[in-house]
Amino acid sequence: MRPGNHHTGFIMEPKTQFFSTPIYYVNAKPHLGHAYTTIATDVATRFKQMDGYDTYFLTGTDEHGDKIVQAAEKQSQSPAQYVEKISRLFQDLWPRLHIENDQFIRTTQSGHIQVVEHLLSKIHARGDIYFSSYEGLYCYGCERFYQERELVDGKCPDHGTAPSSIKESNYFFKMSQYQDWLIDHIKTHPGFIHPKQYETEILSFLKEPLEDLCISRPKSRLTWGITLPFDDNYVTYVWFDALTNYISALGYPDGPLFKKFWPSARHFVAKDIIKPHGIYWPIMLKAAGLDIYNGLNVHGFWNVSGSKMSKSIGNVTDPVQVTGQYGVDAFRYFLMREMVFGLDANFTEDVLVSRINADLANDLGNLFSRVLSMNLKYFKGQVPALHSDIFSDLSLAPEADATIRHFRAAMAGYAFHKGLEAVWQFISRMNKYIDTHEPWGLAKDPKTRPRLEAVIRNLLEGLRTVAALIYPVMPETSRKMLQELTIPQPESGFSDWNK
Ligand code: MSP
Repeated sequence: MRPGNHHTGFIMEPKTQFFSTPIYYVNAKPHLGHAYTTIATDVATRFKQMDGYDTYFLTGTDEHGDKIVQAAEKQSQSPAQYVEKISRLFQDLWPRLHIENDQFIRTTQSGHIQVVEHLLSKIHARGDIYFSSYEGLYCYGCERFYQERELVDGKCPDHGTAPSSIKESNYFFKMSQYQDWLIDHIKTHPGFIHPKQYETEILSFLKEPLEDLCISRPKSRLTWGITLPFDDNYVTYVWFDALTNYISALGYPDGPLFKKFWPSARHFVAKDIIKPHGIYWPIMLKAAGLDIYNGLNVHGFWNVSGSKMSKSIGNVTDPVQVTGQYGVDAFRYFLMREMVFGLDANFTEDVLVSRINADLANDLGNLFSRVLSMNLKYFKGQVPALHSDIFSDLSLAPEADATIRHFRAAMAGYAFHKGLEAVWQFISRMNKYIDTHEPWGLAKDPKTRPRLEAVIRNLLEGLRTVAALIYPVMPETSRKMLQELTIPQPESGFSDWNK
């Protein structure tokens, strides 16, 4: 706990921040896209910690539904065995990518199931869930309904067979009555959906009347799901189950984590699931009488060598393979530097390699080894005096301060690429500083010894700043640099880093 602020006469709560990733489907093993969202959330969490926040970071797996039953069948396994196996791949991957989540939630856990039942009962009791039958075109092969426009020549695009017209009854969530409330909520909470272009997208969806959401499947069609608390013959389908993870993980309704962290909840997702997160989820929360989450961070999609990742193209990028070859911190750096948060980006091995060579080996690596070897050569590794009073012309401090300011503003706005850009500008400034001041020349004359001391000391101070700022993106590299500079790891907070 941080000390209270007695100036203003009331005790200030510590700043808290809850971040989540989507819970990933377990119908395939983790790929580049999953890795990006989870790394971005880890970077944001580490940054908030540095900035003095008490953080909580949640990720997990989404394990119910017919896609998963089908994937299990393909491998001749029961759904339970199958989800166990794939969920494990996600759980094992994150520590390998230097991701430090506080919890890993699975939708098959009993605690989660109870919260889903609780939420459904609550919304049902308020009259926002109703039963209704409808008729539609159903493909038995796909086990799903099709819209007319999805068919190819009136046939299922996957099976080439004509779907049957069947009548089914299901439960629906009344969303339309909350439409005006949601529009108003978005407009009165700037930054609720970030970046702005996705807020615009959601508001434009909301110009059309919202259809009610089908939230069930009869057990005759699907049993791998959570039974509706008010009708044994049905399970709940997909979004009511999945979205609820964000509160079940925190121990809603009475858990201390829920009380502490829910008010600061911010969800990271990609643009593919903006509708469930930007529309269904706030309306579900509203209907259940809960506080609305604080914000949604939406990023774009990674393409690989210019195409959408797909099994048939064979370009599904495996983070285990890439990090095995190039290193974890280099991979994290590349992802954060290359993608403008909110826009799509392209992954190719060429660009990855050239960034590693230029930014990491050349700019940062060379600077670091040049400075350390000069420090060893001229001062036997001891830290020389700064002489800031006599050689103010040599001071890098104003630029270091400006770098920290730019970095902090960019990272606070989730513009990770800009934060890194600021740090690398400072790195290249230091490389030029060495060329300008030529320490090797200063070392030749004992009269210029104090000036040499000031140059090396300024560079060491600059490296310390760099090592601290890269921590959220490259935690291992940061630790190693600080170790070599023999600087103790700071506990937290920019003020400590500045000292
Ligand atoms: N289970 C749902 C989410 C429920 S959240 C309450 C789901 N799962 S998913 O496995 O399909 O994951 C989708 C998410 O994975 C995206 O929103 C994004 O975070 C990540 N990505 C998957 N492919 C991606 C790219 N090609 N590029 C970037 N991120 C992508 O949807």
